[in-house]
Amino acid sequence: MSKTQDTLKHVAENLRKRITTGDSVTQVLRSDELRALYAEIPTLPADERAAFGKQVNQLKTELEELGAEQTEKEDRRPIDVTAPFDVNTTEQKRPHLLPSNYGSQHPIPAEISDMIDIFYRMGFNVSESRQIDDDYHMFESLNFPDDHPARDHYDTFMSEEGFIAPAHTSTMQNRVLQEYKHVLADGEDIRVVIPDRVFRNEDLDATHEHTFYQLEGVVVGKNIHTGNLVATLQTYMSQYFKQELNTKIQPFYFPFTEPSFEFAVQRPDFLRKDDSEEQKWLELGGCGMIHPNVLSHANIDPNIYTGFAWGFGIERLVMMKYGIEDIRHFESAKLDFLRQF
Ligand code: FA5
Repeated sequence: MSKTQDTLKHVAENLRKRITTGDSVTQVLRSDELRALYAEIPTLPADERAAFGKQVNQLKTELEELGAEQTEKEDRRPIDVTAPFDVNTTEQKRPHLLPSNYGSQHPIPAEISDMIDIFYRMGFNVSESRQIDDDYHMFESLNFPDDHPARDHYDTFMSEEGFIAPAHTSTMQNRVLQEYKHVLADGEDIRVVIPDRVFRNEDLDATHEHTFYQLEGVVVGKNIHTGNLVATLQTYMSQYFKQELNTKIQPFYFPFTEPSFEFAVQRPDFLRKDDSEEQKWLELGGCGMIHPNVLSHANIDPNIYTGFAWGFGIERLVMMKYGIEDIRHFESAKLDFLRQF
């Protein structure tokens, strides 16, 4: 092969590679190597000139076609729909993001972080609930027999396929019992809290939302009794309100706890209007000793182990803490409300 043919072959390989590895076709067509090939044409002997000129032109056409193919391939690259803007646009054309000091965290997730912190310090694990669940976790595993009237207290939304938007975080009881029951064999207790979103078909008012948050707690071990339940809630409430507070329980009914209670906490000083008895207590949630059938559903022997569970409304607690008069503010997206946090 002559020296010119050798150079042509070498340059052609080089330029093809540049295009397939991402250089733009315009850059490649303006490259010094291609110019050098064109510059060489008039210097060649007359009988070689036409043939070599034709080959260089063919290379140029080939590179243009390769460039077009490459662009088409790139256009078909998957689009990252999670990118905050088109990552291919230049810096100048991208939207200007607001400086982060313009925004703040919504009070509910911020308070949930504080609540979790307290429970971590009390030796609890944390689990998340689900936004969609099934009949087994919503009712059956919680000892609601089919057609039990107590099912009506949890009027929520159901798909035609039978999926359920959970009406309480108790849907997670069976799952956390199954997940953590191995610790019982080591002589440890199961201690888990589950803060998450729940849904109910409600008439809305200042204390009732259709979408709100609950915090569920589950404790199981040997010799666990109601005194442990009261002490746990009392310790938590005192930590959350940063003040020593008493807790009381009064009889109630839930199919998944026996006995069942409603619990109330002594109103923190800053929420008490006067010294009257009715100003003394705040109703916050339900609780009780876990029903033996619920333990059996998770394959935990109720003759050996006992436990308690509770569930309170997170918004209600936050409302108490900050003196918020209407639960609907939380989902309202009203800036004058949100800016106060
Ligand atoms: C329950 O949801 C039970 N799962 C609680 C429980 C857990 C009992 C474990 C025993 C063992 P209840 O329906 O009462 O119970 O709701 C608990 C709390 O959620 C209420 O006390 C209240 O604080 C809050 N809550 C209930 N409905 C609403 C609503 N529509 N809007 C805001 N908060 C609500």
